[in-house]
Parts: sequence; structure tokens; C-alpha cells
Amino acid sequence: MASVVVIGTQWGDEGKGKIVDLLTGHADCIVRFQGGNNAGHTLVVAGKKYVFHIIPSGILYEDKRCMIGNGVIIDPGVLLEEMEELRGHGLPVTPARLLISENAHLIMPYHRMLDQAREAALSSGKKIGTTGRGIGPCYMDKVGRVGIKAGDLLDFSQFLDKLQANVEEKNFFLTKQYNAAPACFDEIKAQFEAHAERLMPFIGNVSVELDQARKAGKNILFEGAQGTQLDIDHGTYPFVTSSNTVAGNACIGSGFGPAHIDEVIGILKAYTTRVGSGPFPSELPEGDAIGDELQRKGGEFGATTGRRRRCGWLDMVVANDAVRLNGLTGLAITKLDVLSGQPTLKIGLSYTVEGRRFDQMPSNIRQAALAQPVYEEMPGWSKELSKVRDFSELPQQAKDYIRRIEDLAGVPPMIVSVGPDRAETLLLRNPFAK
Ligand code: GDP
Ligand code: IMO
Ligand code: MG
Repeated sequence: MASVVVIGTQWGDEGKGKIVDLLTGHADCIVRFQGGNNAGHTLVVAGKKYVFHIIPSGILYEDKRCMIGNGVIIDPGVLLEEMEELRGHGLPVTPARLLISENAHLIMPYHRMLDQAREAALSSGKKIGTTGRGIGPCYMDKVGRVGIKAGDLLDFSQFLDKLQANVEEKNFFLTKQYNAAPACFDEIKAQFEAHAERLMPFIGNVSVELDQARKAGKNILFEGAQGTQLDIDHGTYPFVTSSNTVAGNACIGSGFGPAHIDEVIGILKAYTTRVGSGPFPSELPEGDAIGDELQRKGGEFGATTGRRRRCGWLDMVVANDAVRLNGLTGLAITKLDVLSGQPTLKIGLSYTVEGRRFDQMPSNIRQAALAQPVYEEMPGWSKELSKVRDFSELPQQAKDYIRRIEDLAGVPPMIVSVGPDRAETLLLRNPFAK
């Protein structure tokens, strides 16, 4: 048995969904522990594409237990839509397959309204480029101790008391501060009455069930969302999301003890992308031939908002921040196939900022925005990699690129991904095989 955490090492969209789906084959329970439907995790199985925003990526296996931990924030309408979509694929989501923590907070309509109103009010250099899904305002209410939890749906009069107070307060900000339309108590009440009826059978205690699963010798897989540089504490603040995306939150966000974690796998895209605003030292700006080629070949459009993802070279400062902050025991290197055809590859080793060397992302956002990577170059390869199924079949230059990443990170690769499909993967070491 083992407990394995999968997290993003960069700015999200590293291919977490694909790797979680792959590892789910060896797991019993799959747990989301933070973030909300700002996440967009794409899985391709036998040529068929699925995108999940809130349900754990393990859901495609019928005999697995998926869980949404207390650290996740849930937009019930989006969750129910996702369930309907799965039903359409012949995979009905039943309470036997999905458990929702009673302590997970709910994203309410006024959170989305506030998120969008606040972004609209910011001047262009200050915009975060949020997904507009209400993430920041919902976590603000959680920390501000006025949030509404999934468990409140089981006690509807308590839910209505909290709703009343929140609608009053939020409408003050919406109308007075942002000149926006107010939220309607009666509408939300009716919507959530219907949501409560449908979601009630799924709500329970994730921490207790995880403890039972661990004691019964089950394999547990924790699925991170976003990426290390989007972490609220450790990322490029304020251009971050509103949760802790690092591995430590797998424990807090699900109610699982830290001593029980066996492995932490960092998903590292073979180049870098970022969607939304904020510093990105190794960026190849729009119009750059190589950046545009990575964007095109990698299909780099946001799975949640459809926005074009900014692209750039692999940045080992970012990777090594993730090694340290997450205590990585293995790497899953994804999208190696996208680099085929590049004559020369660059790897960022450190930054120069105002004449000073940085080996970590500067915490000062003005300095982070000025960071200039110091690169080394490696020869690329031309062979297309999507048919490769064994490390030995990779071109020598691709092997060298992976070995160089291992040297610089001090963490071995566990998985190499050469295409979006579950089958397009080289599993070098199975974290569940002890
Ligand atoms: P996540 O948010 O980390 O789960 O990543 P996304 O699903 O948002 O974005 C990753 C995209 O890359 C998805 O469209 C995946 O289907 C795709 N993908 C994942 N791994 C690979 C790979 O090795 N090669 C290629 N070409 N695409 C991949
Ligand atoms: P997955 O799980 C990439 C980014 C947004 C924005 C910032 C804050 O698919 O990797 P938010 O709506 O969270 O308040 O937006 O964070 N962001 C992501 N970028 N992948 C994600 O998730 C993201 N979730 C949020 O673009 O810059
Ligand atoms: Mg994504």
C-alpha cells in the first residue's frame, strides 16, 4: 500500500489529469484536496477526450472511490453538470463512487459575481486574469469564517441563515463598490434547495474514510490542481490562485496525517506555460516563432477558459522551487513529444535581476517580473515520439534532455509522457509498487 501525492510544478496545466488517470489504474481512492473549478484536467482514453473541473480524474475507472476533500471549494451547479456529462458517457456517478467532504466550502453565485466585478475594476497591469469562477471570494469567506459548507446543505435552515447574512453583505459590495447588479436571495435559495436534494447522498466525512482506507491497506492517490508557482504563499503573489497548491496541502485539504504520505510526484511539462497574468521569466512572447510553435503543437489553450496559454522554455529555477517546496520523490515529465523538431533546446538555470543572481523565484513581484534567465543549450531531436513506449526507444538527445533535468533537479523521472492518450506513456517506476 502507498499514499501518493501528484502536484503541478509550474503554473498549472502540466498534465496532472493525464498522470492521475494513469496512476488510478494502481490506486483504490483518488482525492482532490484544493482548488475548485478553476482547474481543468484533460484525459484522453482510447482517443476519447474528457475534461474534469471538480470531479477527481480517477472517475473513469468504475471500481474506484473518488473523494472531494475539505480543502476543495465546490460550485454545486458545475459539479452536477459534470455528473450529468459522465452519465451521458454511460458512467453514472453514484454515492458509491464519489464522496464529498461536509467541510468543503461552496462557491456561491455572489462569489462568481464578485470575482468578475473585482477583475473588471482593476487597471490593466493589475488584473490577475482569474478564471472568473469565484475562487478568490469563496476562499476569502472561508478564511473570514462566513463561508457556507457542503455540510450546511444537510441542515437547510442553517444554510438559509448563512445565506441571508452573506447576500446582505455581498450586495453592499456588489452595488456600492462595483456598481454591479445584486444577488437575489430567493433565486439562490431555490437553486440550492434543488442542489441540496441531489448532493445530499454524496456528503460525508472524507478524513474518516481515508483513515479507514489506509488502515485497510488501500492505495491512495491525491490529485493536486494548479501548480506550485500559483500557490497563495509560495507562488508569484499576487498573480496566484487563492489556495495552497503544494503537496503539504494534500494532508490539510483532506484530513490525512503527513506521516502517511509515501511519495510526492511533481508533474513537469518539458517546456513551460502560463495562463493569466504575472511574471514568466522564460516566456517566448506571442509572435516568437518557437513560442508559437510550442503553443500550436502542444494545443496550449486553457481547458477551463479557452484562453491561449503563454509558452516558454523549461525553467529549472521553477522546477527546483517545486522540488524544495513539495519534497518531490519523483518527476513525471510530460509533453516531451511537443519538443520534437526543435533544433536547439534551452533550459533556464538561474535568473539575473538588476545584476544579481537568483536561484529561486524572487519573492518581490517587481523583481520576479524583471528576472532574465541564464540558459544552457542542448541539441534537440527530430523524431516524433508519440509511438515510443520504452525509454530505450527515445532518441539519444531526448534521453540526454531527461537525464539533464534529473541532474539539475536531483530527482529521478518516474514517468515520461509522449502524447495525451493514457497509452502514450513510459512508466519508469510505479509509485504504488512497493
Ligand atoms: P492539467 O491541468 O495539469 O491536468 O493539464 P491540462 O489537462 O489542463 O493540460 C494538459 C494538456 O496536454 C491536455 O490537453 C492533455 O490532454 C495534454 N497532454 C498531457 N500529456 C501530454 C503529452 O505528453 N503530450 C501531449 N502532446 N499532450 C499531452
Ligand atoms: P489546472 O488545475 C492554469 C490561474 C488563472 C489566474 C490565476 C488565478 O488546470 O492546472 P483563479 O481563478 O484561480 O483565482 O485565477 O490562476 N489558474 C490556472 N492556471 N491551470 C489551472 O488549473 C489554473 N487555475 C487557476 O489563470 O492566472
Ligand atoms: Mg488544466
